[in-house]
Amino acid sequence: MQEDRITVGGDLGPVPGPGEYDIAIVGGGPGGYVAAIYGARQGARVALIEKDTPGGTCLTRGCIPTKALVRTTEVYKTMQEAVRYGCRGENIQVDFARAMARKNRVVAGLVKGVQSLLAKHGVTVLAGEGRLVDRQTIQVKTVEAETLIRAKHIIVATGSESMRLPIDGALGEDIIDSTQALELEELPRSMVIIGGGVIGMEFAFIFARLGVKVTVIEYLDQILALIDEDLSQEVFRSARTAGIKIYTGAKATSIMEGEDGEAIVAFEHAKTGEALPMVSGEKVLMAVGRRPFLRGLGVTEIGLELEANSRGIKVDHTMQTSIENVYAIGDVTGKLMLAHVASHQGLVAIDNILGRKCVMDYRAVPNAIFTDPEIAAVGMSEKEAKTLSKAVRVGRFPFAGNGKALTLGMSRGFVKLITEPDTGVIIGGSIVGPGATDLIGEVTLAVQHRLTAEQVARTIHAHPTLPEAIFEAAWAAESGALHLAD
Ligand code: NAI
Repeated sequence: MQEDRITVGGDLGPVPGPGEYDIAIVGGGPGGYVAAIYGARQGARVALIEKDTPGGTCLTRGCIPTKALVRTTEVYKTMQEAVRYGCRGENIQVDFARAMARKNRVVAGLVKGVQSLLAKHGVTVLAGEGRLVDRQTIQVKTVEAETLIRAKHIIVATGSESMRLPIDGALGEDIIDSTQALELEELPRSMVIIGGGVIGMEFAFIFARLGVKVTVIEYLDQILALIDEDLSQEVFRSARTAGIKIYTGAKATSIMEGEDGEAIVAFEHAKTGEALPMVSGEKVLMAVGRRPFLRGLGVTEIGLELEANSRGIKVDHTMQTSIENVYAIGDVTGKLMLAHVASHQGLVAIDNILGRKCVMDYRAVPNAIFTDPEIAAVGMSEKEAKTLSKAVRVGRFPFAGNGKALTLGMSRGFVKLITEPDTGVIIGGSIVGPGATDLIGEVTLAVQHRLTAEQVARTIHAHPTLPEAIFEAAWAAESGALHLAD
């Protein structure tokens, strides 16, 4: 995003009357609510239309509740392994109801925080379902009434919804999506997860660590297909150790109900179509991707253009749609479905609405995956970089050589930095191991600002800390890591 200050309030003209706004935003997730606060903070009269609670999928049904449960699994695992750390613990058990209640409290606290931020910034929150009537009018429908509001600019930020495979049995009662998985009242004995992508693998670890027998069926030859194979392999091995059974190159084809009431999932070899042995589970979690949420929104009725595959509202780099005063941000654009991307797109949309020209820059988008160990990546992967140029340099450093990781008892994984051959500029980095999702911040800064490996290597990193592994990987990309023999 380019930095370039504007006059407060931009060129929005005279103050609107009742029911009239400078900016109306449909959808209060991390895209919509951040845009609302940012716009209101600069003097715009902003309405935020939300049918549920502000916070969206990320806060109420995604990132936050899953991370609260991941924390429960970390505590449980540490307690189970207490003896490794010279402690004794007996009869360690999971109290699933309490873990879910804690998760709900964390979510409720954050929702309250967002609500109070919106109120403090003077954002008008309209609780209801929004539908675009024309390029400046939105119908807001609540249980009791329907009202029309008008706005000079509209931002569509309605997010996405889980997809279900169009296979036999996919609509059965025990076939759940990630939202339903977060609402379970009891732990199932067993679960089959269809899809070994980000959602599938995060839930696989959560449930397996809580004692559920988990089987993952993934269509591609690799779980977490978007990341480099060496990172994916590290998590694959750890998943096997955690008792997660994984079938890759396997296509789920139908779901039936077994005699014992369990769901039986049939699947076949993805390439040859050869039938593979069936697997069963008390619940089947469908984690095969998400699609932009456009239903009932009036998008096509007002003439907004969609992406070529009809998935997502077409936007340019300023987040403007095919209609000049209408913008779209977040998952509904069908681009990178990440909360932090949505928030940044929201800032870009507001800046452009308020007259500050800036564009969305996707070169340094961090990705954080909360498996065990965690994975994080930013910029180019090694595979992508090597496809473009064989000469890229790769600096690697294992956590096994990092003092802090050893004290934590978490020395699995490594840091990898990719640099341009001539300049030494860091163009990508990935981390698998302890604290990976926090550590990626430093690499993101380096990629965003085109820092060189030498600049990172010459930066003093506190000892003993995990970021020293990034420092060492920078040295590895230059003349060789200091704490590595070869
Ligand atoms: P995904 O696209 O990451 O993974 C879906 C997986 O299902 C793919 O690997 C695909 O090959 C597999 N699949 C599809 N059809 C199949 C079949 N018939 N049989 C077996 N496997 C099949 O989608 P996912 O995990 O549902 O996530 C949705 C979105 O949410 C993603 O865009 C993701 O980036 C985002 N997200 C990101 C998180 C993070 O960054 N920590 C956390 C949760 C979601």
